[in-house]
Amino acid sequence: MADLEEILKDVEPLVAQSLQAVSNAAGLDELDRIRVAALGKKGSISALMAQLGSVPADLRKEAGARLNTAKVAVSEAIEARKTALEEARLDERLARERVDVTLPARAADIGRIHPVSQTIDEVVAIFGQMGFAVAEGPDIEDDFHNFTALNFPPEHPARMMHDTFFLPEKADGTRHLLRTHTSPVQVRTMLKQKPPIRVIIPGRTYRCDSDMTHTPMFHQVEGLVIDKTTHMGHLKGCLIEFVKTYFEVDDVPVRFRPSFFPFTEPSAEVDIGCSRAGGELKIGAGADWLEILGCGMVHPNVLRNCGIDPDEYQGFAFGMGLERIAMLKYGIPDLRTFFDSDLRWLKHYGFVPLDVPTLSGGLTR
Ligand code: PHE
Repeated sequence: MADLEEILKDVEPLVAQSLQAVSNAAGLDELDRIRVAALGKKGSISALMAQLGSVPADLRKEAGARLNTAKVAVSEAIEARKTALEEARLDERLARERVDVTLPARAADIGRIHPVSQTIDEVVAIFGQMGFAVAEGPDIEDDFHNFTALNFPPEHPARMMHDTFFLPEKADGTRHLLRTHTSPVQVRTMLKQKPPIRVIIPGRTYRCDSDMTHTPMFHQVEGLVIDKTTHMGHLKGCLIEFVKTYFEVDDVPVRFRPSFFPFTEPSAEVDIGCSRAGGELKIGAGADWLEILGCGMVHPNVLRNCGIDPDEYQGFAFGMGLERIAMLKYGIPDLRTFFDSDLRWLKHYGFVPLDVPTLSGGLTR
């Protein structure tokens, strides 16, 4: 028979000692060692409990209750200390890993926007404000969309003017081609959508040509407006507004020079004023002119080819070279450098990714 007094006299000091150790525990590992030492299989309190079996039956209940109270007291203290230590650890981690979300993003680390992309964004922002939607079409075209529907007569020399890249001939004798301009997307848009139409069409174009001012692949933006009343005055107003906004110069002379395209009548080429005083090109009032785009009223044959009645509908179209207007605005001297994939060039002429051009926020910052 175990002596009850003998067992119980150890309980109080054991509990006091354990609670002291628990409150001093500096970390979760240490706390766990204390738990094992008191409540584990071979722990001090467990050892006292193991002796209960040999306590006389009439006293066992009270002894068991006292030991259990001791056990509960110690394990509750351990739990409380554990929660406190875990919270402290989390607080410390939160403080250490704190992120200031109000700091500006480090945009420089995520690359640069190519001047062609930047220019497309700017042009889309300007015409978007005027109510134009963006349309797109495929780079690989057929003869119908690139030439025939656009009123190029068969064997007409204008087809030759375009230095077309043709794909290999198919069994039926036809061949696809790389579009020589974005104008085929005019056709695709009119075939698919009823007027009123107001779209701009940025995209890649291809011509077999390469020197300082020509690359076999380049970009254009096409514009197309079709409704019942749009006339040449709207075309002029729209393009003059575009030129002023895009070049960010209020005083730019704009000149419409008669020209020829099979798909517009009348047709014009647009020049903007510039000066080359002191060897530096400046867009604005000056002694010189620079050609920047072709335009005109959509030819009745083109409307007819696209299922639109020219007696009811009319409108204008324009097309301009994107690299060209980028070079003029940003002072980039050689067209070929656009496609060299030279990172030093891109760092110099590229744009910060998060500065998206808008009319309210500024096209360029
Ligand atoms: N497609 C013509 C070109 O590439 C430009 C243009 C488009 C002219 C629309 C008039 C109207 O030269």
